[in-house]
Amino acid sequence: MFITLEGIDGCGKSTLALNLKRKLELLGFKVFLTKEPGGSNLGKDIKKIILNKNISPITEFLLFAADREVHAKIIKQHLHKGEIVISDRFADSSIAYQGYGKGVDIDFINEVNNKVLGGLKPDVTFIIDIPIYIMQERLGDRSLDKIEQMSEQFFNKVRTGYILLSQDSRFYVINGTYSPREVLSQTLNILLTFDEIKKPALQYLDKIESTDPQKLFKLLEPHSDVIINRYTSAKSAFNKQPKQERK
Ligand code: TYD
Repeated sequence: MFITLEGIDGCGKSTLALNLKRKLELLGFKVFLTKEPGGSNLGKDIKKIILNKNISPITEFLLFAADREVHAKIIKQHLHKGEIVISDRFADSSIAYQGYGKGVDIDFINEVNNKVLGGLKPDVTFIIDIPIYIMQERLGDRSLDKIEQMSEQFFNKVRTGYILLSQDSRFYVINGTYSPREVLSQTLNILLTFDEIKKPALQYLDKIESTDPQKLFKLLEPHSDVIINRYTSAKSAFNKQPKQERK
């Protein structure tokens, strides 16, 4: 299964990506975590050019797309092995940033993206949505790269772009103003509606319940409705434990 995370800078995608990887691994999955730009070795050099040189929006997009072509091949190899792939940003970033944000023709972006991806498409995309003022608060005084320094108006366009994209059924919008734990829990609840995730996860948990009930407690946090409904007794036993005994 191929999962991508999207959103404006500072939305918490990278934290979610790490938390999601850990959680899915606890649930028995093999997970490959990757990102754009810089998901390939070529991409790391390309990222330096994009962030340091004065280039037009269309060149910027074409450079992201060049990174994406190599990255797509790496992702396909991992999917082929049956792993879950989580990418922190992917092709939709170009539509939101270079397309809606900087006015590059969206049909052109889609055409190039389709060419470089060779049929690869995310199964599900989470857009972590935050208002611009939260982004500004979170980025604070840290030294910002070229894209992060863009105007409020630019980020409003990018955010709107993501919301427009989310009309398609592949997308789920998550409120990124909540805590990392809540964001993880909401994302997990959605993922657990997919049979590809739900079936193996529950099979794994059933096995744990019979062999290592202590471990099951750990797997139930943060809460996910699907899991909790099934393991209610384990959950209530967990809640009755004093906090310091919880592992
Ligand atoms: P980076 O600093 O690596 O990641 P992030 O800030 O998301 O943790 O990303 C550099 C910037 O690249 C980021 O501001 C979003 C932008 N970007 C685009 O404008 N178009 C794209 O296609 C991609 C993949 C990223």
